[in-house]
Amino acid sequence: MTEIALLIGGGGREHAIARALADDCELYNCAGNRNPGIAALAEEIELLDTTNPQAVTAYAREIDATLAVIGPEAPLEAGIVDALEDAGIYAFGPREEQARIETDKAYQRRFLCEHGIPGNPDFETFDDTEHACAYIDDYDGDLAVKPAGLTGGKGVRVIGDQLSAEEAKEHLRDSDYDRVVLEERLLGEEFTVQAFVANGTCATTPAIQDHKRAYEGDEGPNTGGMGSYSDASPWLPFMTETDYNQAVSIIEATVDSLEGYKGVLYGQFMLTAEGPEVVEFNARFGDPEAMTTLPVLDTDLLDVLVAAREGDSLPELDFADRATVCKYAVPEGYPENPAAGTEIGIDPQSADSAGDALVFYASVDERDDGIYTTTSRALAVVGAADSIADAEEIAEEALSVAGDGLRVRHDIGKPDLVQARIDHMTELRDG
Ligand code: AMP
Ligand code: GLY
Repeated sequence: MTEIALLIGGGGREHAIARALADDCELYNCAGNRNPGIAALAEEIELLDTTNPQAVTAYAREIDATLAVIGPEAPLEAGIVDALEDAGIYAFGPREEQARIETDKAYQRRFLCEHGIPGNPDFETFDDTEHACAYIDDYDGDLAVKPAGLTGGKGVRVIGDQLSAEEAKEHLRDSDYDRVVLEERLLGEEFTVQAFVANGTCATTPAIQDHKRAYEGDEGPNTGGMGSYSDASPWLPFMTETDYNQAVSIIEATVDSLEGYKGVLYGQFMLTAEGPEVVEFNARFGDPEAMTTLPVLDTDLLDVLVAAREGDSLPELDFADRATVCKYAVPEGYPENPAAGTEIGIDPQSADSAGDALVFYASVDERDDGIYTTTSRALAVVGAADSIADAEEIAEEALSVAGDGLRVRHDIGKPDLVQARIDHMTELRDG
């Protein structure tokens, strides 16, 4: 039987999912934007509001979808999985209640605490701004200040890093957050481990380092992610195998406690001098992390999804022993003042690759006379090779396809930056 897969979402992550699925099934896509990369792979793209359960379900029925896979968090929060399943369509993603592990950071911290999951920093939750400000005054040490709800990765402020305690209080008073989480500032190097989860089983993927800051040298505001890299081993050069295994154990313990969770569980960790601690969990693949995971996954993604649907254990995953480097090209001024509507010199028909690199489209506006930027990340290039340094060179060579009007963090994956991460961890551990 040919599977008919509905992919929900139209960003770079979803282009990577589409590429991993397209050869093995009939692929359909629904999204709020038309992604030229997905357009080249899918039978059809339906433009709709992916947070509207009726619209998504009606389209899934129209195409006779045999399964659905959800990319972004907003549809999960809107209960798209619940609606698809109520309509009898298997959806690989958590139901609204289980997606709270991402969509409600206060719930997330309480959940880890109540289930005794290791690696949960000190935290308190507040629904009153002045109580939160008093806690900042009284706390002995630096805090991370997080709105409890979704902010596209841009809501967190870390005292002692991005701002002072006084500025953090000002920020809280100026914002209209209903609830905030204040938690111990973790010091170390960040990394991500993602897992496919279904039927009580869990299949983990290699560690990745994302780069959230907008500018080179980790300066500037947080973004959705400017690029990422992985190594030919499941862990990263600044980590040990034990660090990686501890992160996997934390994910497994969380999956056990979540009972009945399905979809991707994304663990963001801080590797501290004492080992990995949890920065957050997401209920989906990361973007860009999906682009440094799926291209080296040798197991067919469709086989994982079908095993999940059939109630089977998930297959063991095979990964090519290759390092990857992903770099996003974003509009000038992103994220604070992005220059939308700049024409970019790419040919959507050539989609998919540039030299030895893969190209993944994210948010571009395809008009009759060309391709233009929107206010979000435009496209990503991914190099894969035996070493991070070689993968980085492949990605850089491909960036010429991006043309003018776009900005890139060229430092991502360069030997100097990777070495700085190793030195940072050595310093902390010797500290
Ligand atoms: P989040 O949206 O929770 O992933 O946070 C965004 C970024 O804020 C993370 O990638 C970290 O760089 C930083 N961050 C979040 N929580 C903490 C923490 N407890 N300590 C230090 N940095 C943090
Ligand atoms: N790259 C971070 C995220 O997808 O949340």
